Amino acid sequence: MSHLPHDPNADPAHAELPRRGFFVRAAAVVIGLVVTVVPLATGLLFFLHPLVRKAKRPTGRPVTGADGYVKVTTLEALPSGGPPQRFTVYDDKQDAWNFFPHQQVGTVWLRRTDAGEIQCFNTRCPHLGCTVDYKSVEKTYFCPCHTSSFDLDGKKLNAIPPRGMDSLEVKVLDGNVLVKFENFRATTSEKIAVG
Ligand code: FES
Repeated sequence: MSHLPHDPNADPAHAELPRRGFFVRAAAVVIGLVVTVVPLATGLLFFLHPLVRKAKRPTGRPVTGADGYVKVTTLEALPSGGPPQRFTVYDDKQDAWNFFPHQQVGTVWLRRTDAGEIQCFNTRCPHLGCTVDYKSVEKTYFCPCHTSSFDLDGKKLNAIPPRGMDSLEVKVLDGNVLVKFENFRATTSEKIAVG
């Protein structure tokens, strides 16, 4: 009886070993990738999120319509030749992380002239930023802080304010009055928007 040398490859159990080793290593690589890449990608997205969003909406600025106008009132609420009326302007706001719907962003004076023109002024005094009021008897705007006054067209009537009242762009759409609200730097003769 002859004894042939033992061939390990002829044993199916031995042939299975390298294949099993390959699958174990492949699985280890995949698991390693998942536990490394997923948290890394999540962290990266977390940090990039405000940057990505900033590209769509400037940080800290009101989130207005595409043209920057927000609805303030209806045309019906402003009778022709009527006195100026004060309105609060609301808009959505967003900073790097948070969205704040319907926030008060300022106040405006609105009136419709006899000719049907709609005038809009920011209520902030261009002198030092107090709120400009309206005197119905004199038909003038006035600021109680340092007694500045302005006519109905917003022109200054004394030397205290550096410029007239700050007019705002306004338009009528579907019976609504929309305003492009902005604030302007006080104390300067030039009208410089500050957001
Ligand atoms: S802040 Fe209005 S007059 Fe000074």
